Amino acid sequence: MLRIDLERGLVEVDRPMGTITYPIGSPQAFEWISRAWLRSGWDGKYVYSFTWMGRPIIQLPDDVLRMQEALYAVRPDVVVETGVAHGGSLVFYASLFRAMRRGRVVGVDIEIRPHNRHAIETHEMADLITLIEGSSTEPAIVDQVRAQVQPGETVLVILDSNHSKRHVREELEVYGPLVSPGSYIVATDGIMGDLIGAPRSQPDWGWNNPRVAAEEFLAAHPEFELAPPAFPFNEGTLTDRVTYWPGAWLRRKCMAAAKVNA
Ligand SMILES: C[S@@+](CC[C@H](N)C(=O)[O-])C[C@H]1O[C@@H](n2cnc3c(N)ncnc32)[C@H](O)[C@@H]1O
Repeated sequence: MLRIDLERGLVEVDRPMGTITYPIGSPQAFEWISRAWLRSGWDGKYVYSFTWMGRPIIQLPDDVLRMQEALYAVRPDVVVETGVAHGGSLVFYASLFRAMRRGRVVGVDIEIRPHNRHAIETHEMADLITLIEGSSTEPAIVDQVRAQVQPGETVLVILDSNHSKRHVREELEVYGPLVSPGSYIVATDGIMGDLIGAPRSQPDWGWNNPRVAAEEFLAAHPEFELAPPAFPFNEGTLTDRVTYWPGAWLRRKCMAAAKVNA
């Protein structure tokens, strides 16, 4: 049980060993309130309430802003994203790339509905976006994605399609090699593991989720490390991110990658 006392500025958490009280501004209190807020937002479908330049973007705003920080730091030539939906995230990356005067976007989805395709293909950012329709792990589709990347280009990959452990694990295997040293492959929506019992959740989400897929991938691929980008700016006392993507940011190590290329 979590109790928030705004008048006294305290947060109380009932744990097996007893009740723990935290000042509301402490990192621990923020973490507990964030967990509750994320769960409440899941039930209320908060992430289904935003657009970017007119297109629905199904993301937590915190994750969108953190992605912006990563893209500005890595400055990729190409972002590959599996899972397009309405195209809001593709348009978001493309708009950053337009402002940065570098970068383009490749989006893969098993089904791009005609009205979504039309809206993306007629959008102001359309010239920076390539759409590929098919399952992201289908070899012919992976080949099409690879063909979009020129040798030596910097690539960052975002996995936001089918979030089953098996599918994400396969995506990590096929798209991991595309990721440049110092860049990331981001296995989104590991929050599933924290949503057992919530509406629209499944009983197997405790293990059947992208975070577990990422852990397995890391164990088999020492050239990657779990390394969420450090906050480029933080004058506050809070250091943990509020995210739907726990355990998501897998960075390709620079030295190991150099050995692979040697
Ligand atoms: C969560 S939505 C993507 C949201 C989008 N990235 C955004 O931020 O707005 C997931 C998408 O994955 C697609 N999808 C499901 N299985 C897939 C697969 N095997 N390959 C590619 N896309 C898939 C669905 O059709 C759906 O459009």
